[in-house]
Amino acid sequence: MIEIRNLTKIYKLSSGQMKKLKTKNSRKVAVDNISFEAKKGEILGLLGPNGAGKTTTLRCIATLLKPTDGTVVVDGHDTVREPEAVRASIGFLTNEIKLDPQFSARYLFDFFGRLHQVPEDKLKQRREELFSYFGIDGFEDKKIEELSTGMKQKAAIAVSLVHDPDIVIFDEPTSGLDIITARSVTDYLLELKKKGKLVIVSTHIMSEAEKLCDRLIVIIDGKKTAEGTLRDIYDETGKDNLEDAFFELYRVNHKEDR
Ligand SMILES: Nc1ncnc2c1ncn2[C@@H]1O[C@H](COP(=O)(O)OP(=O)(O)OP(=O)(O)O)[C@@H](O)[C@H]1O
Ligand SMILES: [Mg+2]
Repeated sequence: MIEIRNLTKIYKLSSGQMKKLKTKNSRKVAVDNISFEAKKGEILGLLGPNGAGKTTTLRCIATLLKPTDGTVVVDGHDTVREPEAVRASIGFLTNEIKLDPQFSARYLFDFFGRLHQVPEDKLKQRREELFSYFGIDGFEDKKIEELSTGMKQKAAIAVSLVHDPDIVIFDEPTSGLDIITARSVTDYLLELKKKGKLVIVSTHIMSEAEKLCDRLIVIIDGKKTAEGTLRDIYDETGKDNLEDAFFELYRVNHKEDR
């Protein structure tokens, strides 16, 4: 279970960043007092436009960023006080962290497996299972830099799942993938849910959110603007599809030049 209480993340901007963003404000509030919970056996989606704060929220859960304020507790472990315990139970995938291009998928899979102290026989079994599911077998000894975009992403997904984590946090897992490859990823996430895992994904693809997620959190300008099932969000906005509901939430909540 994940419990997020009043999570706020403020980035300090360098003078170069301030110039680029044409702002005089040296602070950027990326996540603004967000609270939510997520339980095992559900797929929770974070839906929001570019710059909404999705990646920042997920990185705080994954212990890669310290909240400026508020707390994140994963299976009873606070992400700041007990980051190792949190890391042991989560699999994290983000576009920002890439596999080292010089190594092969097999090498990296085994490397991260050993880092997570996965026993050798289990490691081999996991590798065969995941590489076969994602069609990486046959490419496993090629350097990451030689793989296609889709294959790189699938290798990153397999590596993130090496330790069979109970909680899977995927930041835009289908970004850059064709519909067939994307479907194999979303089908796999549904399988994980069936096994009782907790899956959190971020996306800005409405159709994906509609098909995949049991519940959604809509984030706009760092703030939680809606939470619930598709039905809840349709009811709240008076719309009957996610795209219209999302535009309505954006119209009501987005402020220019915060
Ligand atoms: N390291 C950083 N330093 C300063 N500002 C940052 C940093 N990382 C992100 N931001 C800013 O914080 C806000 C939230 O960014 P974040 O990456 O969390 O959004 P996102 O919802 O993941 O967007 P996208 O859909 O583009 O991936 C944005 O305005 C972004 O420019
Ligand atoms: Mg992002």
